[in-house]
Amino acid sequence: MDYIDKLKTGENEKNIIRNYDILVKNDLDTNLYQHSVNTLKYAAILAEKHDVSFKDYSRICIASVLHDYGKKLDIGQQREIVLKNKKEVKIKPGDLEIDALLHGFSGAFFIRDKLGIYDRKIIEAVKYHTTGKSDMNMVDKIVYISDKIEDGRQYEDIDYLREISLKNIDLCLLEVYKNNIIYIIKRNKSFYSQTFNIWNNICRLYGGFLDGPRR
Ligand SMILES: [Fe+2]
Ligand SMILES: [Fe+2]
Repeated sequence: MDYIDKLKTGENEKNIIRNYDILVKNDLDTNLYQHSVNTLKYAAILAEKHDVSFKDYSRICIASVLHDYGKKLDIGQQREIVLKNKKEVKIKPGDLEIDALLHGFSGAFFIRDKLGIYDRKIIEAVKYHTTGKSDMNMVDKIVYISDKIEDGRQYEDIDYLREISLKNIDLCLLEVYKNNIIYIIKRNKSFYSQTFNIWNNICRLYGGFLDGPRR
């Protein structure tokens, strides 16, 4: 676990991250474990590059390694957890039919209740890592982006997204979000009920950048 030794956190935080890493390794399949590690590695690079606080750096590492831990549960269990906690997540009934959304929401409640993680920023970053949300903070943005562009991912435009992730995190968020919307449309999939609000919010906040518009 070289990559954990190299993180810019204290020894206590490294031990915590190491334990979560082991948990993810034991409970998720190999590909998903590798993706979780890659997300952590990429998020650590972005956190350092964008000068986040010491506390947020650790939060980003913990949320990254655990972001897909909700996939340990089957879809039925995920839906059950989301329903049980529905007051704490922005969902409409139709969202419960979109399987791909549920692991972020359920994963957040799962790590809170089973692992005792109560840090609000960590919980929120895990909860909305698939959908994004309006008014994302730096922890949310870095976890959201790293999940989509970590080194194991391969798709058109990814080099551009990686390049801007190091220079302008807000522009990168806008471009990654846009990419995700296009991905969903191309596959005839349904949107999360909040997607257009979130997109509008991202555009209002960060749409002014003209550094390399893509489409
Ligand atoms: Fe995910
Ligand atoms: Fe992921």
